Amino acid sequence: MPSDASFPEGFLWGVATSAYQVEGAVHEDGRGPSIWDTFSHTPGRIRDGHTGDVACDQYHRYEEDAALLAELGIRAYRFSVAWPRIQPEGAGPANPAGLDHYRRLVDALQRRGITPVVTLYHWDLPQALQDRGGWPERDTAWRFADYAAIVGEALGPDVPFWITLNEPWVAAWLGYGTGVHAPGERDDRRALAATHHLLLAHGLAREALRVPGRVGIALNLEPHRPASDQDEDVRAAHLADLHMNALLLDPLFGRGYPPDLVEHYRGVSDLGFVRDGDLEAIARPLDFLGVNYYRRQTIAGREPDEGIVAEVPGSLGAWSVVPPGEPVTTMGWPIDPSGLTEILLRVGREYGPEHVIVTENGAAFDDTVGPDGRVDDPARIAFLAGHLSALLDARRAGVPVEGYLVWSLLDNFEWAEGYHQRFGLVHVDLATQRRTPKSSARWYGEVVRSRGASLAPAAGGPPERPV
Ligand code: FCB
Repeated sequence: MPSDASFPEGFLWGVATSAYQVEGAVHEDGRGPSIWDTFSHTPGRIRDGHTGDVACDQYHRYEEDAALLAELGIRAYRFSVAWPRIQPEGAGPANPAGLDHYRRLVDALQRRGITPVVTLYHWDLPQALQDRGGWPERDTAWRFADYAAIVGEALGPDVPFWITLNEPWVAAWLGYGTGVHAPGERDDRRALAATHHLLLAHGLAREALRVPGRVGIALNLEPHRPASDQDEDVRAAHLADLHMNALLLDPLFGRGYPPDLVEHYRGVSDLGFVRDGDLEAIARPLDFLGVNYYRRQTIAGREPDEGIVAEVPGSLGAWSVVPPGEPVTTMGWPIDPSGLTEILLRVGREYGPEHVIVTENGAAFDDTVGPDGRVDDPARIAFLAGHLSALLDARRAGVPVEGYLVWSLLDNFEWAEGYHQRFGLVHVDLATQRRTPKSSARWYGEVVRSRGASLAPAAGGPPERPV
């Protein structure tokens, strides 16, 4: 056992993927269409018309991928179950072939001592449910609870960690607000209703999942700092921050919806979709809070004319800006590990979750295979080292962070960006499906093995002694 390990034994070390991004095999074994099949096949929606039809072919290669995880020394694998494989029409009896696939995947992991972490919903709503209104429709929450019960019954005893929903904010606001994600609607009123019904779905599924494992939810949380101390920037940053963070955290921790946001949306919606008992269902205690962290936000109250600028979803009068010259990933996201410490401290202080897992963190860079066949990605190593160190800072300050999952195991289908963004620790040649571990994969394996000792001195270990 490494004596200078900075992470405790039992810390959950893993990597994450999601079904539509890696599985492919979209027409096999009775799988029904999801909103992402429809969306990716709609011209103009995805960069270069890419789709998840084949993706990383993990549906067929899960055994190889499980072996790769073991070889790299990774201890946990977070994957998602594709709802349309289990209920092709989004309702009714389970499709046995769909369940069998995930039983085999869980088995392939368990045989190698790798802990499965199962996400029930990573954005691939059965198209049949979207045809009946999708997440803005209350009934979808009940359909989700039924589906959760089916998967819980099939995999329950073998899965120690469950995530009901991945990033409900993104599903609601990019799916129904900005329309950048499936199903591509642009309507704040429907995005608000979708937010509520996703949270309700989480609460109902929490109840319906009769499993011995721990059940949580994964939220994309980002600190929002004002671009200046001028009133309009401060106000915009406050609203944008409430919108992405408190809009979900407040109801999940029993506080209902944030009053400032309710006020902001008064003209758009009276929140009439919130019925008696909903908030109680949403606030059922979580066994852990999953935090997906990629970036922090700098927010301006007026559209700036330089830098990378994007309007914040929700008609808040807020713009996200990355000033020119700031280091960014190929997604254009600023690199700032201190934002992870900041958001973890805040969550710890304001909501006091008993257990926290960083369920996603990672970065896209232009990784290429060198002439010697190697893929060197020092920028990703620096990114991950910086964020692990930031996580340790939060742990030392008392936030109970008990796991860390890198997004992602493989280069995969990055939603609206198609295959243009490489997030993997493992490079995937999309023409041949050849997997090549990048130098970051070996590096991460060593971090896991040494429980962070190999991060020193960056992670606060003993300074190097001159020889
Ligand atoms: C997160 C998603 C994940 C992946 C990363 C880069 O928002 O949960 O599927 O796309 O971003």
